[in-house]
Amino acid sequence: MRDDQAGAVPEPGSPTARAAAAGVHPRPGRVLPRNDPRQYDDLADQWWDPDGAFAMLHWLAEARAALVPPARRPGAVLVDLGCGAGLLAPRVAGRGYRHVGVDLVRSALVQAAAHGVRPVNADVGAVPLADGCADVVAAGEVLEHVPDWSRVVAEAARILRPGGLLVLDTLNATALSRLVAVRLAEHLPGVPRGIHDPRLFVDARALVRECGRHGISLRVRGVRPEAWGLVRWLVRRAVRRAARAGAGTRAAAGGPPVRTESGASVARADVVGDAPRIVPTWSAAVLYQGWGTKER
Ligand SMILES: C[S@@+](CC[C@H](N)C(=O)[O-])C[C@H]1O[C@@H](n2cnc3c(N)ncnc32)[C@H](O)[C@@H]1O
Repeated sequence: MRDDQAGAVPEPGSPTARAAAAGVHPRPGRVLPRNDPRQYDDLADQWWDPDGAFAMLHWLAEARAALVPPARRPGAVLVDLGCGAGLLAPRVAGRGYRHVGVDLVRSALVQAAAHGVRPVNADVGAVPLADGCADVVAAGEVLEHVPDWSRVVAEAARILRPGGLLVLDTLNATALSRLVAVRLAEHLPGVPRGIHDPRLFVDARALVRECGRHGISLRVRGVRPEAWGLVRWLVRRAVRRAARAGAGTRAAAGGPPVRTESGASVARADVVGDAPRIVPTWSAAVLYQGWGTKER
């Protein structure tokens, strides 16, 4: 059995032991290197838990969706690169798009499909979709997970039709970003360890230049969770967790269901609950959004 397989105990000094020392997801019995996509399998039950490891992805999906206008034509297509479990789906439901999601991880795609996303199991660096098929391409929190983000930009530009819109958010390649998003964040309760490899973070200026080379004039702005909303959410989450532990059960997800373009009904407790808002901030040095139209 390889030392990165479930149940293996890493030998001292082995690659896995070194990965563990570098910071890994703490699933008992399985140790994975940073940014290994199999971490999303281990965390599969967390995607739709608004208090879970991916809570912030819900807040970011809400902010990303705010950049997506209603479809301008019947049959419009939104391609969601690195869609994960489809957290964007309830937020763009009703805007007139067929929502296609591309992801490497099957366990995430199964959940995305259950939320109305048409799943495509592929690498975002080689998207098996036709040139010019997309009215909108979303790339939420995925560019910082790929070995060559410029390939993903090229693919996004290729599948966008002229006049189509690219919306994205990612982590900047700065010392501050590495400090905040990795060194500090990974010590907070509930934040998965090893999900990011800081060497893959995306320089905002280089991203703008690369988009420009592909005819997309990308605007960027720094974003962050609104401070008081974050504090309120952390306190309430602690209370909910204590209550869950006391009751020995998970809190039920509430909120009205939303019907997607494909007719799937999805709960959106996370959308209507006490999630912190993502707000613009003066610096793009850590987390930033980008949006731009493909001109040619
Ligand atoms: C941080 S999650 C973001 C998911 C989703 N965009 C969201 O915001 O909820 C990153 C996602 O990118 C996917 N991913 C990472 N590298 C990929 C690749 N090369 N091709 C396709 N998907 C990839 C992962 O499987 C994961 O679902």
